[in-house]
Amino acid sequence: MSKEIKRVAVFTSGGDAPGMNAAIRAVVRTASFNNLHVYGIQRGYEGMIDGNLKRLEPRDVGNIIHRGGTILRTARSERFRSPEGRRSAYESLLAYDIDACIAIGGDGTFTGANIFSKEYDIPFIGVPGTIDNDLYGTDFTIGFDTAVNTAIEAVDKIRDTADSHNRLFFVEVMGRHAGFIALNTGIGSGAESVLIPETETSIESLIETLKKGAKRQKLFSLVIVAEGNKLGNANQVADMVKERFSYYDTKVTIIGHLQRGGAPTAIDRVLASRLGFAAVEGLLKGQKNVMAGIINDKISYTPLEDTISKPKELNEDLLRLAEVLAI
Ligand code: F6P
Repeated sequence: MSKEIKRVAVFTSGGDAPGMNAAIRAVVRTASFNNLHVYGIQRGYEGMIDGNLKRLEPRDVGNIIHRGGTILRTARSERFRSPEGRRSAYESLLAYDIDACIAIGGDGTFTGANIFSKEYDIPFIGVPGTIDNDLYGTDFTIGFDTAVNTAIEAVDKIRDTADSHNRLFFVEVMGRHAGFIALNTGIGSGAESVLIPETETSIESLIETLKKGAKRQKLFSLVIVAEGNKLGNANQVADMVKERFSYYDTKVTIIGHLQRGGAPTAIDRVLASRLGFAAVEGLLKGQKNVMAGIINDKISYTPLEDTISKPKELNEDLLRLAEVLAI
């Protein structure tokens, strides 16, 4: 029989994502509603190793639902990759009598949680918090919608100046291994082409697309480049295009970490609130070592193992849409 859960720890880990605070708030309040004690761990696995835990009450998470970043701070922990690091983390959790952990983060966070859950008997529930939207087991991750909105707002501004000067802009967005941000930004900002890690695009076919646009009297062009795409970063792609096609004056903008900050959108606040709530409810109903997600508007729980080992497929319809609408 599983141990009764009375004390839960929550932490954020890996790259921060707008909406993580709303998720922390939902975890703390749902847990308190169910008479559980909640502890916040500072800086993810780093704080777990160092025993940096602090009691969180419902009022401690007031006035944070609208804030970007994470009040618990975050880190990418090298130490947690080692058995010694994980042993220290386990000892910290024992010292605080923690019965279960709620991990808000992305694939790196869940990889750590998955290894830990095989070594030690403390259940973990994952909450998908990453702007990349690259986790199997949920339609959307917390922070993705805000990041895409930020990127689109930036591209709208670039569009103005690109139009004024007849320029070709390569705009680099985040996504080391996934093209969700790039694809949605491309569609939402009316870009000419989108380069993503999941598909092959040759420099020749990109130039062909740009040439066709120029023939159709397009006065300027926008190409969205996911940082992990196979042709190279935005500067490299821009250089390759410039060498072969000099019709437009070419510029590069890298949006970078702007995409990680800022107030979460309504969609991210609601998603984070639902998932934080689902994480605690799931624990109370006996779920363990799973990620709470939303699929087709319904809460679902997916083994942590699957969230990191199974690829999240891009929607083929969106790929086609981006191409068709760019004529
Ligand atoms: O995983 C989220 C993410 O924002 C990626 O899109 C990006 O490649 C990476 O984190 C950047 O990480 P860091 O902030 O550690 O440089």
